[in-house]
Amino acid sequence: MRVHKGILLAGGSGSRLAPTTAVISKQLMPIYDKPMVYYPLCTLMEAGIRDILVITTPRDQQAFATLLQDGSQWGLALSYAVQERPEGIAQALLIGRHFLGGCPVALILGDNLFYGDAMAMSLGAAAQRAHGATVFGYQVADPQRYGVLAFDERGRITDIVEKPPLPPSNYAVTGLYFYDHQAPLLAQELRPSSRGELEITDLNLAYLRSGQLFLERLERGIAWLDAGTHNALLDAALFIRVVEERQGLKIACPEETAYRQGFIDKSQLAEQAHALRHSSYGRYLASLLE
Ligand code: TTP
Repeated sequence: MRVHKGILLAGGSGSRLAPTTAVISKQLMPIYDKPMVYYPLCTLMEAGIRDILVITTPRDQQAFATLLQDGSQWGLALSYAVQERPEGIAQALLIGRHFLGGCPVALILGDNLFYGDAMAMSLGAAAQRAHGATVFGYQVADPQRYGVLAFDERGRITDIVEKPPLPPSNYAVTGLYFYDHQAPLLAQELRPSSRGELEITDLNLAYLRSGQLFLERLERGIAWLDAGTHNALLDAALFIRVVEERQGLKIACPEETAYRQGFIDKSQLAEQAHALRHSSYGRYLASLLE
């Protein structure tokens, strides 16, 4: 089985966080004690993915590269590409076509945050699937805001409907998708929607039509947050703070994830703890070595 590569899409879109985003990408803003982009990055790492393309706006590429570097400090191989304009999530697969070189891919949005022990199982199941596409469904109170899954009586997906006024279910499609080697080819067939974007929902529907779309239902013990609005950004920060302070453990700490995944060894972790020793973050890393 070929190992999945990762694409982390952290381009610009909309201006729901304007005017703050006039000078900095939202994915570089903090969610409590670390940059937003760390959260989806760690989700890819938890899926065992090490070769990752980070797609950004042209303006912010340098800032992302300064923050994340080449990834070797976390046992990763990071490369960078730009999306000139926010022309849709599915465009990431066209931008990443050469990077993928026929490999399967996990695509994650830079503002999506997944938390919970059970994530590991869902990620594992998706990563093991050799063919087709996997989407992750999550029960939400306000499905109207999302792409929503429709099911038949046996629980099989029959449709995905974008922002339906009358949602066919409470299951939203989250910003994490696993695709086999066909994704760039299928993305190439897509036409821009009425809002001028290559829609990820259309790509998922193409897989559905050929009977190759699979679902991982994220159970209620998992938290899925997207930090795309002012309130969601604040809620995410408070959520992370509450859980981290209560447990004394950090969520989405790439150094720790890399260490636990065996991507880096103890001496590499010690080096990074030392470099950050004047911050509480660095002291946390040092505590992992004890
Ligand atoms: P959103 O603008 O929330 O994408 P969406 O199409 O899911 O949202 P909506 O339908 O509510 O307008 O962006 C989600 C994330 O994806 C965000 O981190 C920005 C990133 N993104 C890009 O990088 N490039 C794009 O072309 C788009 C559409 C989104």
